[in-house]
Amino acid sequence: MHNGKARAFTNIALIKYWGKKDQQLILPMNNSLSLTLDAFYTETSVSFSKKYTADSFYLDGQLQDEKSTEKVRRFLDLVREQSQFFEYAIVQSQNFVPTAAGLASSASGLAALAGACNDALGLNLSDKELSRLARKGSGSACRSIYGGFVEWEKGDSDQNSYALPVPSNHWEDELAMIFILINDKAKDISSRNGMQRTVATSTYYTDWVKNVDIDIKKAREAITTHDFQALGEVTESNCLKMHATTLAASPPFTYWTPNSLKAMNKVHTMRQAGQDCYFTMDAGPNVKVLCQKKDSQKIYHELQKEFPAEQLVMAYAGKGMETLETEVAK
Ligand code: ADP
Ligand code: DP6
Ligand code: CO
Repeated sequence: MHNGKARAFTNIALIKYWGKKDQQLILPMNNSLSLTLDAFYTETSVSFSKKYTADSFYLDGQLQDEKSTEKVRRFLDLVREQSQFFEYAIVQSQNFVPTAAGLASSASGLAALAGACNDALGLNLSDKELSRLARKGSGSACRSIYGGFVEWEKGDSDQNSYALPVPSNHWEDELAMIFILINDKAKDISSRNGMQRTVATSTYYTDWVKNVDIDIKKAREAITTHDFQALGEVTESNCLKMHATTLAASPPFTYWTPNSLKAMNKVHTMRQAGQDCYFTMDAGPNVKVLCQKKDSQKIYHELQKEFPAEQLVMAYAGKGMETLETEVAK
């Protein structure tokens, strides 16, 4: 029996990953840049054993069906191939984040699974190797190996597509992100399918790819100089450009709902009234408000005028993936 356990936090992209040039290896069309957060995370245990005759996957205590186990099984196959350790496994995962709702469960989920496998099989992977492995489970997971600001260098091969921390002199500790939970149920169009349809059919997609490098540079520069307004502006505008691509897809789609628009509008009104806050959204209806820690309580209270406290979650910068003690002795 080989047991391992790990915890990974979710990350929210300020400059989005949107589109793959290689579906199998998960190589992205563009670099992306994120902030790892402390409020949402996944804890995953894995046990490999000769006794098992198939892989099984429990999520939040529930044995998952064939379809939902498939992604995990494919990931375990990659681990088995890489480690040359050919035993089946039981994966038990707890999401402290709503699953598949656009709150980055695939990022924390697959980063935690990569960490648990590394621990169980004593692979001693470096952070770079862990990032490459997690990437092949879910692109955004390669960024959750690290805390704080992280950039995923797109690369052009399995070897050179991985994430690295962005030096910030601890500036992330001065920032906050308030989540406005519009809907925490699983979305209709997964991130994977949404970006695939967009790359294949959206007439705006080439413009997205052309512009994203400029946004990455602006974000890096803002982080280096600790320029909050510059980071906020590029975050919001990059998110709007990503979501614009879905409207020009065929068939067209959007992750926005009327309440997402209400939240975005509230952020604009607050900004006009002099509050320093900016929004971003991922593949889902939920809205995330980027602000500085010093203003976060005030902004939270202002948001409470429109949204009940149960729908608001305050998050600060989180740390990278870490291994945990397993309950069963190795
Ligand atoms: P999200 O916005 O939550 O990242 P995605 O559509 O990107 O949504 O991914 C959701 C998928 O990620 C789930 O359907 C499941 O396949 C996978 N996933 C989520 N949490 C876990 C977990 N803890 N362990 C393994 N896979 C997970
Ligand atoms: C909009 O990493 O969830 O959240 O690689 O297919 O698993 P797969 O997709 P995923 O895509 C995330 C898309 C995004 C933007 C981002 O996190 O960068
Ligand atoms: Co995801």
